[in-house]
Amino acid sequence: MLTQAINQYQQRVNQRIGTILDTLDDTEPKLKAAMRHGALLGGKRIRPFLVYSVGEMLGVPLERLDDCAAAIECIHAYSLIHDDLPAMDDDALRRGQPTVHIAFDEATAILAGDALQTLAFELISSDIEGLSDRQHLRLVQSLAKASGYRGMCGGQAQDLNATDKEISLAQLTALHRLKTGALIRCAVEFAVIAADVDDNERQALLEYADAIGLAFQVQDDILDITGSTEELGKPQGSDLDANKSTYPKLLGLEGAKATAQKLLEDALSALAKLPYNSQLIAEFARYIVERRV
Ligand code: IPE
Ligand code: IPE
Ligand code: MG
Ligand code: MG
Ligand code: MG
Repeated sequence: MLTQAINQYQQRVNQRIGTILDTLDDTEPKLKAAMRHGALLGGKRIRPFLVYSVGEMLGVPLERLDDCAAAIECIHAYSLIHDDLPAMDDDALRRGQPTVHIAFDEATAILAGDALQTLAFELISSDIEGLSDRQHLRLVQSLAKASGYRGMCGGQAQDLNATDKEISLAQLTALHRLKTGALIRCAVEFAVIAADVDDNERQALLEYADAIGLAFQVQDDILDITGSTEELGKPQGSDLDANKSTYPKLLGLEGAKATAQKLLEDALSALAKLPYNSQLIAEFARYIVERRV
C-alpha cells in the first residue's frame, strides 16, 4: 500500500512540476535546464507525499493539493542545490547525478535555487480553486516561516556553525528540527490548512510531523555512515569527511537508532489521537526510520 502510494504521488507531483517548468519561456535556457536538473532528476518526494497523503486522509481533493506539493518540493530542491555548493557541503553527487554546480556552474546553481524558491511562492499565492484568500495567506506564511531564519535557513546556518565543534544534544536537536524538520512540518501544515481542521486535530498532526521530521534527519545522519554511495545517490561519508555534528557522532550508531525508534513511537502516539484512518501515514512513519535511501 505504501510503495504504491509513494509512486503514485511521486508521479503526480513530478508531472505538475514538469508542466510548470515547461511553461517558463526560453530566454534563459541554461537556468531553466539547471532548475529542471535540480527539481526533477530523482528524489523521493517525501514532502509532497505528506501533503497528498495527509490531505487525502482529511478529505481534501488532490487537485487542490497539487500546487502545495509542487511548491514544497521546489523549496526542498532549492535547499539541496545550495546545500551541495562548495561554500556549504561541497558535494559533487546528488540523486545519482552530478550536483547542479558541477553539471552547470556555481552562479547558475545559486540562481536555480533562488528561482525555484520564488517559484514556490508564486505557486501558492496564485489562485488555487477551492481555497479562500485566508487559506492562501496561511500557506504563504507557513512556507516562508519554514524556509527562512526560523526554519531551514536558520538550521543550515547552525549546521555550518556546528561543523568541527562539539555541541550538546539539545543544540543538535534544535538544529535538526530547523534544517529538516521545519519543511516536513510545513508539508503536513499545508494539508491542515487546505482541510481547515480543528485545533486538536491540527495539534496531533503537527506532533506527528515534528516527530517524523526529526526522525528523518536522524536517519539521514545514520545513512551517511551505514548507506552506500550507489544506494544513496549522494556521497556516503560526507558528514564524516566534513566533521559535521550528527546524531551518530554524538550518541553512537546504536544511540542514534534508538532515538529514531523513540521518535517513531511518538509519531504513532500522535496519530492515535486522531479520528481518521491513519494507516498509510503510520506506515510512512515506519518507512522514515527504516529506509535505506
Ligand atoms: C535530503 O533530503 C536532505 C535532508 C533534508 C535530509 P531527502 O532525503 O528528502 O532527498 P531527496 O529529495 O529524496 O533526494
Ligand atoms: C541538508 O542536510 C538539509 C537541508 C536543508 C538541505 P544534509 O546536508 O545532511 O543533507 P544531505 O545529506 O546533503 O542530503
Ligand atoms: Mg548540509
Ligand atoms: Mg549535505
Ligand atoms: Mg545528510
